[in-house]
Amino acid sequence: MKIGILGTGDVGRTLAGGFAARGHGVVIGTRDPAAPKVRELLEKVGAGVTAASFGDAARFSEVIVIAIGGDNVENALTLAGVENFAGKVVLDASNPLRFEAEGQPPVLTVGHTDSGGERTQRWLPNARVVKAFNIVGHPHMIEPDFNGDQPDMFICGNDTGAKQVADGLIRELGWPASIDLGDIGKSRYLEPLAMVWITHLFNNGFNVNHAFKLLRK
Ligand SMILES: NC(=O)c1ccc[n+]([C@@H]2O[C@H](COP(=O)([O-])OP(=O)(O)OC[C@H]3O[C@@H](n4cnc5c(N)ncnc54)[C@H](OP(=O)(O)O)[C@@H]3O)[C@@H](O)[C@H]2O)c1
Repeated sequence: MKIGILGTGDVGRTLAGGFAARGHGVVIGTRDPAAPKVRELLEKVGAGVTAASFGDAARFSEVIVIAIGGDNVENALTLAGVENFAGKVVLDASNPLRFEAEGQPPVLTVGHTDSGGERTQRWLPNARVVKAFNIVGHPHMIEPDFNGDQPDMFICGNDTGAKQVADGLIRELGWPASIDLGDIGKSRYLEPLAMVWITHLFNNGFNVNHAFKLLRK
C-alpha cells in the first residue's frame, strides 16, 4: 500500500519505519524535505521511506497518516491541499493539545462538544477519517509487548471500509484487532483518553511503559 505520513516527529518516524518494514511504500510529508532533520530521519528509518512536501506525500498515497501537533494540523492540511485527500483513508493520530506551563501536562484545546478528529473530518470533507494511534506513546506503536500481553487500540470514524483498512494496518503492526467505538464523534472520548496516558506519564517520571487494555469476561 502507498502510505503518506504527514509529520517528521516521533510518531511520523515510528510509523514510517513500522510500515516500511512491512513492505509498504512510505512517503513522509514535511514543509521542507531537504531539511537536515529530515535527512537524519530517513537515515534512521532505512529503506522504503522517502520524503516529500505535504502535498506530494498526500497526492502519492492511498492512506494518509496525520502525525502533526494539534495546533498545526489545519495549516498542514491546507499546505497539503485538501483536494489531495478526496476519497482516501486518513488515519488521524493527532491530539489537540497545548503546552501551557513548563513541567506540566498539556491541556486539551477542544472537547465535550467537538474534537480534533471531528475537526479533521470537517477540514477534509471528502476524506474517510479514522482516529487511530492517538492513545499510545510512540515507543509502543509497533509490536507492543507488555510482559507478553498486548494493549488495545481504539478507533472511530464514519466510514466502515476505512475502519477496516485502519484495522488491517494496526494488526500488521502487531496489535490485536482494534476496538471500533463508532463514528468520528467518538474522538471526544479518545482524545481525553490520551490525556490519561499523558498524565500518567507526567506522574511517573516520564516512564513511557504503559498502555490501555479493555478487560472482558
Ligand atoms: N509523541 C507521541 O508519543 C504521541 C503519541 C500519540 C499521539 N501523538 C500525537 O501525534 C501528533 C504528532 O506528534 P509528534 O510528537 O510526533 O510530532 P510534533 O512534533 O507534534 O509534530 C511534528 C510535525 O509538525 C509539523 N509542524 C510544526 N509546525 C507546523 C506548522 N506551523 N504548520 C504545519 N506543520 C507544522 C512539523 O513539520 P516539519 O516537518 O515541516 O517541521 C512536523 O512534521 C501530535 O498531535 C501528538 O499529540 C503523539
